[in-house]
Amino acid sequence: MNTTIDSTTHARPAHQAQPERPSHWIVGPGAVGRLLAMHLVRQVPVTLIGRREPPARLTLTTPEGEQIPRALPGATRDTLPPTPPAMIHLTTKAQSAEAAIAALKGRVPATTPLVLWQNGFGVQETLTRSWSGPVLCASTTEGAFVDDTPQRQAVVHAGHGRTVIGHLDGTYPDLAGWLAKTLAAAGLPCQAVDNIRVRLWHKLAVNAAINPLVARFRIRNGQLRDRPFRPMVEALVTELALIMAAEGMPAPTGGWSALVWGVVEATANNRASMLQDVLAGHPTEVDSILGPLQAAARRHAIAIPRLDALWAITP
Ligand code: PAF
Repeated sequence: MNTTIDSTTHARPAHQAQPERPSHWIVGPGAVGRLLAMHLVRQVPVTLIGRREPPARLTLTTPEGEQIPRALPGATRDTLPPTPPAMIHLTTKAQSAEAAIAALKGRVPATTPLVLWQNGFGVQETLTRSWSGPVLCASTTEGAFVDDTPQRQAVVHAGHGRTVIGHLDGTYPDLAGWLAKTLAAAGLPCQAVDNIRVRLWHKLAVNAAINPLVARFRIRNGQLRDRPFRPMVEALVTELALIMAAEGMPAPTGGWSALVWGVVEATANNRASMLQDVLAGHPTEVDSILGPLQAAARRHAIAIPRLDALWAITP
């Protein structure tokens, strides 16, 4: 049976078009991939795919402290399931996303819908233009981290958030709507939007104001509210607001400063993803976050000395 979705029509959501429930492949078994898999597996068949065999059993710690162990079908790029998926979620780090997709080329129908869960803004544009099938982008405020010990493999859902999904050009609304419903039914509140590009740039600004600083000083997000960090955040927000205005990005209701401090408040106890990477000795996503901002600043001849300096010292 062919389980791929016809990327040219989407008049009928895939799950109605198929007699069997379509499977979702989740490529990248980090925190977001695991969180997604542990929720989606309650609704649809899921395969978690990694460079190495992902754990066959994972424990989800909910924000309320409940421990939920679940079996999770896993595969590597050499042991992919024979039946192609209805959808591929790409949950690798931004810098690994293109290589992960290149490894799947020729092994799944070229029309398979992709969903990109990366931070930053770079791979979203590249893959939207180069992949033949529909490419949706997701932006999420769900907080999660990997918590592996020799005894158990776990993902901690540190804080509830919301996810928005859409195509960069605002196309494929039915597919985005269907996926949003599937995620919401799986316990991850989600909305299909027609302005995902703006949402991604807003998240980019938030990530740029928080992530490099907390990674550099090895602090939790909430510590940014105190001296000496507060004026550093404000100075970054001033530069970010200039870039956003020059790019024609609408300012958030309440302004950029309010957006950033709102996220700092809501995630005060979190170790941001970039700090988690630094502590684990992993490469960070700094290039995908600060790179597009620096490129935009150069395009518009805007001086961003603080963002430049931060990039130079972030691992
Ligand atoms: O990257 C992260 O960890 C998150 O996007 C954010 C918003 C900075 C909260 O920790």
